[in-house]
Amino acid sequence: MQSRRDILHVLAAGAGLSATLTAVLAQPAELEPTPSCTDKDAPTPAANTGPYFRPGSPERVDVTDGRAEGTPLLVGGGVLGRDCRPIARAIVDLWQADNGGQYDTSGTYLRGHQYTDGGGRWAFATIVPAPYTFRSMHIHFRVQRAGGALLTTQVFFPGDPGHDRDPQFDPRLVLPLSRNAGT
Ligand SMILES: [Fe+2]
Repeated sequence: MQSRRDILHVLAAGAGLSATLTAVLAQPAELEPTPSCTDKDAPTPAANTGPYFRPGSPERVDVTDGRAEGTPLLVGGGVLGRDCRPIARAIVDLWQADNGGQYDTSGTYLRGHQYTDGGGRWAFATIVPAPYTFRSMHIHFRVQRAGGALLTTQVFFPGDPGHDRDPQFDPRLVLPLSRNAGT
């Protein structure tokens, strides 16, 4: 049976990769419990924030600042509640390393946030991050709906040989990844 995580697909135009993540958020404590999703829709695991988060990222879809560096990546998905319903106007904040494994610690390159649409969907145009130190390839996210708890998490890339040496690696957070044909 197809899970709700598989239902959300984002198509990229042009060459590059695309990936999907559906963040399932816990219910605010004041709400009555609702029927849980199927097992594949357990709440998205939290992960370490790390040292490179910076508040105040710009609201945007394309976080590349127009630089033609690295492998283009369209990463997107959805935000769902535990009842599997999409959450509109949830904030999704992304930050990641560049194709040399460096974070922009003074500007906003490869940083951005956006709000989910009426279907809970979000997508960023970015690049594939390089691994650094002991870290495998990953992208950081913070996800929060209005009045809800903050989910800080990371996503990882399939087939990355760095998983074994990365103490923060979580196989539950590996992105489905597909390659798009050039146009
Ligand atoms: Fe990181």
